[in-house]
Amino acid sequence: MDAEKHSSQTALFAAAARAAHPLVDNRPHLLSDEVAQRLCRTASPSPLDYQLSQPGSPVLAAARLASCTRARFAEAVVSETQADQVLLLGAGLDTVANRRPAAPPVSVWAADRPDVLSWRSRLFHEAGLNDRARCVPADLAAGLDLEDLEAAGMDLRRPVLALWLGVSMYLTPERCRDFIGELAALPAGSRVVVDYHLSPEHRDEAGRAYAQAVAAMAGHAGEPWQCSTAPGTVAGWFVGHGWRVELDVDEAAATPEGFFDRQEHLSPMRLVRLLHAVR
Ligand SMILES: C[S@@+](CC[C@H](N)C(=O)[O-])C[C@H]1O[C@@H](n2cnc3c(N)ncnc32)[C@H](O)[C@@H]1O
Repeated sequence: MDAEKHSSQTALFAAAARAAHPLVDNRPHLLSDEVAQRLCRTASPSPLDYQLSQPGSPVLAAARLASCTRARFAEAVVSETQADQVLLLGAGLDTVANRRPAAPPVSVWAADRPDVLSWRSRLFHEAGLNDRARCVPADLAAGLDLEDLEAAGMDLRRPVLALWLGVSMYLTPERCRDFIGELAALPAGSRVVVDYHLSPEHRDEAGRAYAQAVAAMAGHAGEPWQCSTAPGTVAGWFVGHGWRVELDVDEAAATPEGFFDRQEHLSPMRLVRLLHAVR
């Protein structure tokens, strides 16, 4: 069996970006992900090696910024809302379940394609780690069955925080809009945190260059980018399905004040937006 065929190269690329950030960028760090470092070290060659040897590469630096900013933004919502049920949609190698302290307890479910979840489990095993997220096989292009979540132990009488990170761009715009409607079946008080891409005319030069490079790589790896929109479009989809949008900002606006002044390799780009909605 060709294990690579059953993996997600974009998930590994994102994990390597989070793993490398505290090792190659200046303080203050957006986050520190030692679990991702351990997972990436099980792969050979590992994209972490490229990150460590070429931290100034614009594509690798922009990947660190995007992967770490969305994780930091999402984890701030976990903390601020004291969410105790977190659902990772397109989990890939997300490590939040293993990085959060045991108290207060947070239960985490990882939804992704079945083959990607098997690969995820194998990497955790090879890294000597116990994956604290419960796996829920799902094809988000077809839908998410809430009964599968319940069968995996989620309490659907209480709010759920869904972290839909680094995934919307792999679905079609119609599918993203419909999926937002399907998520509205989650209990009242549930939240969604999602990142999405601006369409080409709304990007700056750095955003255009990064999108061109990564879209080619992702497409080559069988995970083509499909969804990008004007600012406000995704918020409109949420509102249309009964959600209230709490925040919808450019990626750079989600970094700490003065963050870029201290960075050698990282600079703002206009491509990614981060949105937090509640219902
Ligand atoms: C770039 S990775 C992001 C992983 C993780 N959420 C993160 O932020 O690091 C994209 C993930 O979305 C998953 N994905 C893409 N399309 C999917 C689909 N139709 N159903 C389930 N998962 C999907 C991929 O398998 C992959 O794990």
